[in-house]
This record gives sequence, structure tokens and C-alpha cells, in this order.
Amino acid sequence: MIDIKDLIKSRYAQDSDLKKSFDMPDSISKRILRKSCRKFKKSKVSKEILISLIASAQAAPSKSNLQQYSILLIKNKEIKNKLSKLLEKTAWALEAPLFFLFLADIRRNQIITEYKGYEYKNNSIDYFMNAVIDASLAMQNFINSAEEFGLGICPISMVRNHLEEVKKMCHLPKGVFPIAGLSVGWPDENNEVSIRLPIKVVFHEDFYNDKDMLKQIDQYDKTIERVQPIPKSKQRHVNVYGFNEKNTWSENISRQMSLSERKEFKKWLKSHGFNLD
Ligand SMILES: Cc1cc2nc3c(=O)[nH]c(=O)nc-3n(C[C@H](O)[C@H](O)[C@H](O)COP(=O)(O)O)c2cc1C
Repeated sequence: MIDIKDLIKSRYAQDSDLKKSFDMPDSISKRILRKSCRKFKKSKVSKEILISLIASAQAAPSKSNLQQYSILLIKNKEIKNKLSKLLEKTAWALEAPLFFLFLADIRRNQIITEYKGYEYKNNSIDYFMNAVIDASLAMQNFINSAEEFGLGICPISMVRNHLEEVKKMCHLPKGVFPIAGLSVGWPDENNEVSIRLPIKVVFHEDFYNDKDMLKQIDQYDKTIERVQPIPKSKQRHVNVYGFNEKNTWSENISRQMSLSERKEFKKWLKSHGFNLD
């Protein structure tokens, strides 16, 4: 068992102001110290583990138990090769023994509703969001269990840069789209725990309050620079903004936020069975 104060130190690179120490159950310590994995051993993951992970995913909470998601495992070598070419710098994702697409899925309940003789009247932005939340929670439950088995994972949003191709490759019908890919396998690297925003920045009590937020972000930048400096090679949009010696977290995310990404997403969703009304 590890003390909460040590866990806070590792997760935030900050001392905790907690007065009391207490021992954390191992599973929670592991959760607090979790990290993504981008390099995997070749060894296979057994069918029994796979089914346990799917069952864990399906155990996640689901809005009105509507279960508006599906999980697709890509096994076919040809599809894997095609996808890996599309993902370019993220091609490593397909080297994991298992690669999944987590799919928001409003189609299944549309079919059921019509089969039962009712008219489907919920092709709305609210149902789109519910389906995305359901798929996300299922993916997170899957991730928690995978990591509990000692597997490494990395979610892959890059698949959303190639929605039309992925749709064709995996025969995704209207009303079904990948919120993310997920690489899963036995880890072949030992990454650092990535230091998170201070608790104060994301946790509020009673009232939302970001009065000191920029000051705290400045502090966070300094912490990252000290313990986990972002390498120059990871500075975003250098071709547009050039190099900045201060390669801080806030500089990097601001650069990312300043150029619009996936501009065609809404149009594509609308062409693919999501009305978003
Ligand atoms: C929805 C989602 C999509 C992601 N997509 C990618 C991706 O395309 N490529 C990648 O290398 N990491 C991806 N990640 C992983 C994040 O980069 C990672 O979680 C973040 O840097 C924090 O690191 P950690 O998970 O090790 O704490 C994604 C994570 C999420 C939640």
C-alpha cells in the first residue's frame, strides 16, 4: 500500500496539504499512477482476458441503459495495414496485438424502435452526446480493467482524421462512428507518469471559480518545465509559429487551440446518419 501523499507527489509533482496519511488499496494507487503505453510486446492477449475486458466495458453505466455503443476489434491484416498507412506517425498504434474502435452507435436502437412499430424521433444532438458518453464510459471501464491485468493501452483519436476511409474499411453504417481507437497489449516501455493540472484548477466546491486559474497555470508550467520538460520535438505548429524557447504546457496547448482541427467533422456526421438537431 502507498500513502496518498506519495501518490499526490507522483501525480502532480506537488506536496499535498493533507493532514492525515492513509494507505490506499493497491488498485487505486495503480489507477492514480496510470499512464498510456505506445510500445507493445508481440505476445498475444488471451481470449479469456479479451472477453473479461468486453464484459467490463459493458458493465459501465449507460444513459437509460440504452447501451448506445459498439466495440469493433480489427483483426484483418489488410485492414490493419491500410489503417496503419492512414495513421502515418501514429502507425505504431496498429502494432499492438489488439486494436479496437470504440463506436458511438445510435443505429441499433433506431432499428429496434422501428422493428417494434414505433417512429424513431431522437436523432438529436442530445442522443448523439449520450451515445458518445456511453462509448467513452465503456472505453474507460475497458481501460481500467486492461490496466488492472497489467496491459498497456493508448486511445487513438487520429482515427477521426480519416472517418470516411475508416467507415468504408470497417463497413460502419449510418449512425455508427468511432469516438476513438484503442491500442492494447503487454507494455514494452516504462513511461513517466504525466504530471496533471493541480487539483485546485479542476475541482470546485459549490461554485465554479477560476479566479486564480492563470496564476495556477503559470505555476503548473513551471512545475512541468522543472520535472518533465516538453522536448522541442513536441512543440506544436512550429511551421506556423516557429520555435519558442519556453516550450510550456500552456504555450503548447494554446498553439494547438489556435488552429482549427477536424473542420469537416459536423458535416461528415450529418452525412453519416447523425442529424444533430
Ligand atoms: C480521446 C483520446 C484520444 C487520444 N488520442 C491519442 C492519439 O491519437 N495519439 C496518441 O499518441 N495519444 C492519444 N491519446 C493519449 C493522450 O495523449 C494521453 O492520455 C495524454 O497525453 C496523457 O498521458 P497519459 O495517458 O500517459 O497520462 C488520446 C487520449 C484520449 C483520451
